[in-house]
Amino acid sequence: MDLEREFIGRTYDDFLFRPQRGIAGSRRTVGLAGRLSRRLSLELPVASANMDSVTGGEMAKTLALEGGIGIVHRALPIEAQAQEVRRVKRSHGHVIEQPLALPRAATIREARNVTRQHRITGILIEEAPGSGILAGLLSNRDMPWFDGQDDRRVEEFMTPLDRLHTGAPGISVEAAERIMFEHRIEKLPLIDERRRIRGLITKSDIILSRQRPESSKDAKGRLLVGAAIGARGDFLERAAELIAAGVDVLVIDIAHGHSEVMQQAVEALRRKLGGVELICGNVGTAEGARFLRDLGADGIKVGIGPGRGCRTRLETAAGVPQLQAIREAWCAVEDAVPIIADGGIQEDKDIFLALMCGASTVMLGSMLSGTDEAPGYVLEDPGTRQKQKIYRGMTSPQAVFEALYDAEGGAEQLEAALDTPAEGQEVRVPYKGSVRGVLHRIRGHLRSAVSYAGGATLAEVRAQVVRDPLRYLVPLSEASRRESYER
Ligand code: XMP
Repeated sequence: MDLEREFIGRTYDDFLFRPQRGIAGSRRTVGLAGRLSRRLSLELPVASANMDSVTGGEMAKTLALEGGIGIVHRALPIEAQAQEVRRVKRSHGHVIEQPLALPRAATIREARNVTRQHRITGILIEEAPGSGILAGLLSNRDMPWFDGQDDRRVEEFMTPLDRLHTGAPGISVEAAERIMFEHRIEKLPLIDERRRIRGLITKSDIILSRQRPESSKDAKGRLLVGAAIGARGDFLERAAELIAAGVDVLVIDIAHGHSEVMQQAVEALRRKLGGVELICGNVGTAEGARFLRDLGADGIKVGIGPGRGCRTRLETAAGVPQLQAIREAWCAVEDAVPIIADGGIQEDKDIFLALMCGASTVMLGSMLSGTDEAPGYVLEDPGTRQKQKIYRGMTSPQAVFEALYDAEGGAEQLEAALDTPAEGQEVRVPYKGSVRGVLHRIRGHLRSAVSYAGGATLAEVRAQVVRDPLRYLVPLSEASRRESYER
């Protein structure tokens, strides 16, 4: 399909959405699910940007709990990035696959330290160190609280195996729940016929997954998380480590995704790592989107230069107005490969417009920055005393300087830093509290937008509108733009 002429040169503030006859009853029930990539869907089609002032493990965890996904940035050593991914994957799950264990001979002091450090409420006890053979379970309430007991052995206080209820490794969540309820226990170790520890199910994890049916999870109930990689240097090693850490989707993120560098990177990655879920970008044209589709990308990230921390268009003149870029990409590949609209979203209505014109998910940087979950400190402006945090483009001089300074980040990082002239900038953004508040607001506004658009769910409205959005969009004059946005 060809791009409609009316989209040429257009972006978010160029259109309003023409209200339709409403059918949604309560807005609270309006479904917002959308696709992130060929195999992954989200209950809230929002991804947090892989930027060092936006997404580390904490942001990724919260995004997934809220139904979106976080893409952990790559401006850090491979092992540190893999660690952030592991943190998210370990934070929730029906089954803890490799639960911590201490040997029988360990002391109460050691047990206390381990449970405190990992914030757990009990620990499995194994026979010999590293044997993996279950001997018992020590919960916090088994630990003596009075003085002088710290050097005693955990085996004196644990519940031994012959008094423990256990399950087989493949047990269903429902069966595990039944056993735990019948015996009023909170932890169910999973062991095989040779008493080897194969997992642990806890009541609190099951309850949590019940309470948050909308959160983004894999088949094992663990939160979804993505991570960014580059296209040169040690990117293959980085990808392999991230996969080993349990990452659900990799994002090859380079400034110019419609390039030979991208082609070589995707081919090498597929050769070495096979069918891992792979989002590629960024591109801003129909040709770029077709190129990534033909390379076998599972998702296409669209956006050349619209980002708040970005100076690409100013410095190089390269770029395509963002709504045009999204529409071009959709007209080129339709829904064969989901499109992620990346950059330039400043208002919640922009998210709705991006989705209606062809995106399946949006990626947000500055909108999620300044929150508790974003990396970095809260600063106070000396003049206004306003609380602020730093938000910066990944090729801002500050980010590049840090990458150079932190050369142990590896050859890839150093090379990228030296390679890229500054096309980004640093800004201070107001401190916003928890990102949950921002996501709550986005969810509410998206539901209202669906209702004005005459649908019962976002997917239903999108399916109808995306084939011919101009039937629903009202182009704005300067005067109507003032009427709409100037307050
Ligand atoms: P927003 O507008 O949501 O945009 O803050 C986030 C996106 O901006 C891109 N990005 C950059 N683009 N130079 C660029 O040209 C940079 O230094 C830079 N840093 C981030 C990126 O696509 C991100 O998701």
